[in-house]
This record gives sequence, C-alpha cells and structure tokens, in this order.
Amino acid sequence: MILVTGGAGFIGSNFVLDWLTQSGEPVVNLDKLTYAGNLENLASLKGDARHVFVQGDIGDQTLVAGLLEKHKPRAVLHFAAESHVDRSIHGPDAFIQTNVVGTFQLLEAVRAYWASLEEPEKSAFRFLHVSTDEVYGSLGKEDPPFAETNRYEPNSPYSASKAASDHLVRAYHHTYGLPVLTTNCSNNYGPYHFPEKLIPLIIVNALAGKPLPVYGDGQQIRDWLYVGDHCSAIRRVLEAGRLGETYNVGGWNEQANLDVVKIVCGILDELQPRADGKRYAEQITFVKDRPGHDRRYAIDARKLERELGWKPAETFETGIRKTVKWYLANGDWVRNVQSGAYREWISRNYG
Ligand code: NAD
Ligand code: DAU
Repeated sequence: MILVTGGAGFIGSNFVLDWLTQSGEPVVNLDKLTYAGNLENLASLKGDARHVFVQGDIGDQTLVAGLLEKHKPRAVLHFAAESHVDRSIHGPDAFIQTNVVGTFQLLEAVRAYWASLEEPEKSAFRFLHVSTDEVYGSLGKEDPPFAETNRYEPNSPYSASKAASDHLVRAYHHTYGLPVLTTNCSNNYGPYHFPEKLIPLIIVNALAGKPLPVYGDGQQIRDWLYVGDHCSAIRRVLEAGRLGETYNVGGWNEQANLDVVKIVCGILDELQPRADGKRYAEQITFVKDRPGHDRRYAIDARKLERELGWKPAETFETGIRKTVKWYLANGDWVRNVQSGAYREWISRNYG
C-alpha cells in the first residue's frame, strides 16, 4: 500500500487514477479538501476497496501517525500543497502553513513511523516529495533550461514555500537518513485542472463568452507537460530513483502564454465553433501583469532520461487536444467546481 497526500487535487487525483489502473496496489489518500480538492475527480473509484479516502490535514501529526500505523504504507507520496501563485500573492499565510509547516509536520510523523519499521520494510520505504521548477526562479531568453544543480531563487510566496519544503525534505535525508526522493516539475495541464490556472481558465471562459485574460504582454514562457506524463515520471522515480536525489521533470515544450491561448482558441474554433461565426481569439484581453511575474521556465529533464529512462509520451499537440476535448465532454464537472468560492476568487483577481 502507498499513502498519497493531496490526492483529490489536480495532479494527485490523476496520479491515483493512473496508479490504480497501472499497478492495482491500494492507496490511502489523505486530503484536506480545500477549495482545490474535489472528490468528483475520484468518482470512478466509488466502491473500489483499493482506494481509502481520508479527509484531513497533513499538519495533523496524530492523524497522520495513526494512518501510518494502521496502513503501514511502503511509501508516502506528498502532493498536498497550496499551488496557485496568484493566490499566494493575495494571501501567503496558507502557503506557509501547508507547504512549509504542514510538510514539516508530515515529515516528523513519517520519520517516527520509518524509525519504527523493521528490515526489510525499513530499507524499502520511500518518501517522495512532489515539487516544482518554480524554486529555480526565472530564466533569461538565452539561459539554458533549469538543471538539478541550479541555485534555488524562488520569487513568489508560493515558490518560496515550495523551496522551503524541498530544503526540509533534503535535511531529513541528510540528518536522519530518511529515504527521500524529490521531483521538480514544470507546468502541468490535463483533465481535472482547476479553472483558476491558465489553460482550464481559458477553455471555460472561451465557452462562456467571457474575456480571456492574458497577463502583461503574454510573452512569458512556460514548459508544458501533460499530467499523465508527470504521473509516469513520479512512478518511475519511486521505483528506481536514487535516494536523496532530485529529478527535474519537463516536457521539452516551451511556449509563450499568448501562443498557448491562441492554440486553445484554435482547437475550440474547430471542435465547438462560436455561434456567431467569430473566432474565440477575439475574446483575448490583455490585463494587468502578475506582480513579480517570472518571465521564463524551462526544464532540462536529461537526468531523468539518462538515469531512469523516462521520456514524456505526449507532445503538446496531442496533449492539449485531449485536454480541450475532456473539458468539452465534462461540462458538469466544470459547473460543479464553479462554486461561490470560485466566483469570489475570479472577481478578486480580475475584478
Ligand atoms: P492542487 O491545488 O490542484 O491540489 C492540491 C491538493 O492538496 C488539493 O486536493 C487540496 O485539498 C490538498 N491540500 C491542500 N492543503 C492540504 C493540507 N494542509 N492537508 C491535506 N491536503 C491538502 O495542486 P496540483 O496542481 O495538483 O499540485 C500538486 C503538487 O504538485 C503540489 O505540491 C504542487 O506544488 C506540485 N506541482 C504542481 C504543478 C502544476 O503545474 N500544477 C507543477 C509542478 C509541481
Ligand atoms: O511551473 C510549475 C508551476 O506551474 C506549479 O508549481 C504551480 O503549482 C502551477 O500553478 C503553475 O504555476 P504558473 O503560475 O506558471 O501557472 P498558471 O496557470 O497560474 O499561469 C501560467 C502562466 O499564465 C503564467 O505565466 C501566468 C499566466 N496567466 C495565468 C492566469 C491564471 C495569465 O496570463 N492569465 C491568467 O489569467
């Protein structure tokens, strides 16, 4: 059995669904169900005894210790976090609480559990920490992509909180010998992506006839990876990653935001044209830039390929088409996540 934190969020739920399809090994899924956690993502697992869902906070050491004692997982995969950069600018507290203090408390509970294990379970145990490329800061136009050896230079409260959690994970390996692995991944996209993030926001706004907000000049660059490829990378690192190492995960797919928005608009024009015959790109609206906005991210994923043979399976062309189709086919999911809390966020950030 494995224990996943944050398995009702975007990447965590994709991971749990993929995991149970690929391996069948049971999963305990600990998630607080913040605004970003959604059990509907896991609806297909209803009645599946291999999935045990527990609503709770990673910072609740008594709860986590009890779960570890009861289920005796062979690994903990840590996805739970506050994940949205814009929200971290409006209110950093929750980011420090969950990403820094919560990760610390989780590590403490895991360390005590791991110390209590006998061999061979003790040597086989893994703590896999899911992190981000944003810890490396921002690249200039001509800079080489981020390698694992790049200096940490986080620029937002979100990335600073993730950087702090990475450092804690590293320290628990160095000081206590906890068998840890860390992945630093670029921007994901795909099914169940909460529509506060660029790609799903553009799809849902386009279909609703609303403005498509592009920050600043839209020339900021991100390296997009289909979420299923992130999940396969995590599975591979868990299986064969070297203890204490970090692995960058990316799609070799740098795109300017404005181009991404235009690509999404083009696919929508083809699959669900506007009733008035106009193009969705006409809805593009340039809005005030994000404060401290990182200009460019790009990942050098050669270590993961060289050491563990991982490569992404999707290209951006195949992945983005799948994603747009998923949103077109899952209007109910979109409507259900557009709660009062969602509307309040949209008016705060864009209003
Ligand atoms: P998300 O915001 O969609 O989901 C986060 C999940 O964590 C939610 O289900 C939420 O309820 C849960 N959670 C939040 N605080 C919690 C707490 N205190 N205790 C228990 N559960 C809690 O995030 P995501 O996009 O799926 O990201 C998952 C992880 O991957 C994060 O650690 C993020 O930093 C990292 N990451 C994300 C991306 C990306 O592009 N989305 C890229 C690289 C790395
Ligand atoms: O790089 C990995 C990171 O990718 C993860 O660690 C984060 O959890 C994840 O949220 C994502 O961060 P970004 O800030 O890059 O993602 P977001 O979708 O918020 O924005 C992508 C780009 O699009 C960014 O340059 C900001 C821009 N943007 C975003 C929104 C929401 C816009 O131009 N308009 C928008 O309305």
